[in-house]
Amino acid sequence: MKKNVGLDFKSFLFLIILIPFSIVSFAKTGVGKLVCEYHTNPIGIDVLKPRFSWQMIADTQNAKQVAYEIRVASSAENLSKKNNLLWTSGKVESDQSVNVAYQGTPLKSMQRAYWQVRIWDNKNKVSEWSGPAYWEMGILEKDNWKASWITMKDEAKSTTSLPAQYYRKEFSTTKKVSSARVYVTSLGLYQLFLNGKKVGDQLFTPGFTSYKKRIQYQTYNVTSMVQQKNAIGAMVGDGWYRGYLGWDGLRAYYGDQLGLLVQLRINYTDGTSETIVTDDNWKTSYGAILKADIYNGEKYDARLEMDGWVKANFNDAKWKPAGILNHSKDILVASNGLPVKATQEIKPIKTIKTPSGELVFDLGQNIVGWARIKVKGKKGDVVTLKFAEVLDKEGNFFTKNLRAAEATDIYTLKGGAEEVFEPHFTFHGFRFIKVEGPIVPTADQITGIVIHSDMKQTGTFTCSDPLINQLQKNIQWGQRDNFLDIPTDCPQRDERVGWTGDAQVFSMTAGFNFDVASFYTKWLKDLALDQQPNGEVPNIIPDMWNNKLGGVTAWGDAAVIVPWTVYKTYGDKRILEQQYASMKGWVEYMAKNAGDDYLWNQNRWHWGDWLAFHSDKPDYAGAVTEKDLIATAYFNYSTTLLSKIAAILGNTADATKYEKLAENVKKAFIKEYLTPNGRLVSHTQTAYALALSFDLIPKDLRQKSAQYFADDVKKFGHLTTGFVGTPLLCSTLSAIGRDDLAFMLLNRKQYPSWLYPVTQGATTIWERWDTQKPDGTIIDGMNSFNHYAYGAIGEWLYTHVAGLSIDPQNPGYKHTLFHPHPGGGLTNANAEFISLYGLVQSAWEIKGNDFIYKVSIPANTTGTVTLPKATLNQVLLNGSALKGVLKKNAKEVDNNVLIVLGSGTYVFSYPGAKNIIEVSK
Ligand code: BGC
Repeated sequence: MKKNVGLDFKSFLFLIILIPFSIVSFAKTGVGKLVCEYHTNPIGIDVLKPRFSWQMIADTQNAKQVAYEIRVASSAENLSKKNNLLWTSGKVESDQSVNVAYQGTPLKSMQRAYWQVRIWDNKNKVSEWSGPAYWEMGILEKDNWKASWITMKDEAKSTTSLPAQYYRKEFSTTKKVSSARVYVTSLGLYQLFLNGKKVGDQLFTPGFTSYKKRIQYQTYNVTSMVQQKNAIGAMVGDGWYRGYLGWDGLRAYYGDQLGLLVQLRINYTDGTSETIVTDDNWKTSYGAILKADIYNGEKYDARLEMDGWVKANFNDAKWKPAGILNHSKDILVASNGLPVKATQEIKPIKTIKTPSGELVFDLGQNIVGWARIKVKGKKGDVVTLKFAEVLDKEGNFFTKNLRAAEATDIYTLKGGAEEVFEPHFTFHGFRFIKVEGPIVPTADQITGIVIHSDMKQTGTFTCSDPLINQLQKNIQWGQRDNFLDIPTDCPQRDERVGWTGDAQVFSMTAGFNFDVASFYTKWLKDLALDQQPNGEVPNIIPDMWNNKLGGVTAWGDAAVIVPWTVYKTYGDKRILEQQYASMKGWVEYMAKNAGDDYLWNQNRWHWGDWLAFHSDKPDYAGAVTEKDLIATAYFNYSTTLLSKIAAILGNTADATKYEKLAENVKKAFIKEYLTPNGRLVSHTQTAYALALSFDLIPKDLRQKSAQYFADDVKKFGHLTTGFVGTPLLCSTLSAIGRDDLAFMLLNRKQYPSWLYPVTQGATTIWERWDTQKPDGTIIDGMNSFNHYAYGAIGEWLYTHVAGLSIDPQNPGYKHTLFHPHPGGGLTNANAEFISLYGLVQSAWEIKGNDFIYKVSIPANTTGTVTLPKATLNQVLLNGSALKGVLKKNAKEVDNNVLIVLGSGTYVFSYPGAKNIIEVSK
């Protein structure tokens, strides 16, 4: 039989019609990764108009969203049936897919809403509706708080730490539970339990806020935990509220009475509901936690454990009735920040017997958290754990840099079976654990528990140099270790508070490494609240010191710079609105202090370029930057930002006003600090870095000042900068075309440099350039091994070395600037960032004589690529010459090729890229 392999005319026609169709339908557009206020399905929030973000999913290049539609309903069922919608946006012609605000019917306390979205792309295709996501409101009206604050009555007053308090109550349910939520907070730190189990995995709740002005409560879904017979209870420890805080050796800044507030709402399937609240029917007692202090550690006596205290039918005859505490409920706010969680466990890598005979376990990494131990012994045996960041020169356990913080956990055994101990209300900054007996666990009975605000990692930077990769690791560890509900300066000594300067200089790097949007949003609320009526921003936030140190330059500027960072990183305009009064207050405060001459030098003490390198050689002593120069430079910078922000918010009057003010400050700066020859009166790296990067040098003198700057770097052969100059140092050198010097500084391995600590085995960023001297000496006192400020170099690693920068005109990676700066002997560098739109990547490598550069631009965003030292004819895309649209969008500028790109992944190469390979040698 003859096989019919040909096509008849009809089928041929059919195929002709079908083929283009099927090609089109291969190109898929979808939506995913729905978040509300930066969280996946958050519950218990109090943002009245929460914002939605989603990601466009597309498998073609140049994908763009041209319209979206959102709908919201009170149940998943209503949503799918489009019944009783709380909001439908209709089709909105817009490419916005990040932070779109809810505009529907106002939600009530405790109400849950479901939402979904669909989008149209630039090829006129509409996506499927996304799957439903939800959010749930917390307690919105004060009247909805039925619970009373309770406390332990008649607790003896004390000048030192008191035991943690335990609270309990039993209750029964008779009906079938459909849902249950518990809303909890405390004065002090709480851990909540229901029927024998800890509720949720959050730690250090309710978090550290300006407690006299706002206290966060947390919401937990406990539907599956409620039984017929129930016991609910909480432990409350001193924490930041009543514990030691600050270096003065003082405690109880916010109050000397602990308190607890619990409201459990149970909804039954029959439509009724019931609320269990803290009141004077609760009972309270001390228990096994004899002392719990953040700095000093926890003392726990397992013999005093009260088995079953959070289970029903516990005999609490010896417990006392709790007392009602008269404390405001008007200051309760939902916690919309990032919860602190235990995120990692680390086993010791070494067991050490030190020269002085101490038994020490080395975790190999400076972490924040505590040690979990497993021990077996007799009733009354004691294990003492001490924590240190380092061993000294001789190899002995070193704690002098913890100053007054005792950082000691003491556990007394109940005896019998193996016992497991973890503290509840303390944390330590440490790598080494010293154990004192009589009972001593072995290495496998010890685990380091890492805790911090549970930030998702968003950024990765790697390159061909392992030391720089270790530096990057140290920066990220420094961030994990110091982002514990607030951005702390350090996590180990008697400080651990929210120094504004440290937070400010590190904020951009922080925003590359981890998702910090809600973390900073929370902290900035406290900054605004603790700001003085005259706009002065205290040095630490939350400010238990009540502005004792006054507002100083580069620290107070956190008020403007940190919101600006959040805006740039996440395209978050609302934070600019929310913080606007605070920013303006700070700028006005400086303006008032500066007076008519616009110089902020009025008899004021500043930290200045804190911890800058000071040379002991007279010829080289020029590393001290005058504090008033820094103050006026920052005055100009914050004022310039404020003017830009005013413009973004549509406040043209303020935009003009602050633009003028900034101009006047600039003129004053030039008159006071710059010679007609381009030399600054403080002839230091910090002064030049500030003046050049804040655009304080007139155009015609820029070249000269840049030369002075470069000469100073060459003269020293190393950096001389402190907290203020360091973050700007390399980026300013790059901006004046001196990548060579920036890389020289980066690559330097001797003190002072970023890599010196790495060569000394550092696993975090040090507070000082010489926290540990080359001979192993460690200065006592203020000398932490875990301060992130100098880690601000991370921003330059991402933006310059790898070449991935935010475009402030199109923030939040809506448009990304890709511009690698190969150099310093590196043969590759790669930065990846998970933006709200999806993965952005900038990766280059030198392969033989070729320079290869890969960029990834997420859907619904665009990018401009600068191919360094290239010509149009030389550049290949995926191995072929640039053609079509790409060629049209490309041009040569200053020896570089610039190309504007839509979404997609592109691999450029230019063979024989001699110029680049030279600089990388
Ligand atoms: C802290 C800081 C802070 C500084 C103020 C120190 O004790 O640890 O890092 O910024 O004081 O200069």
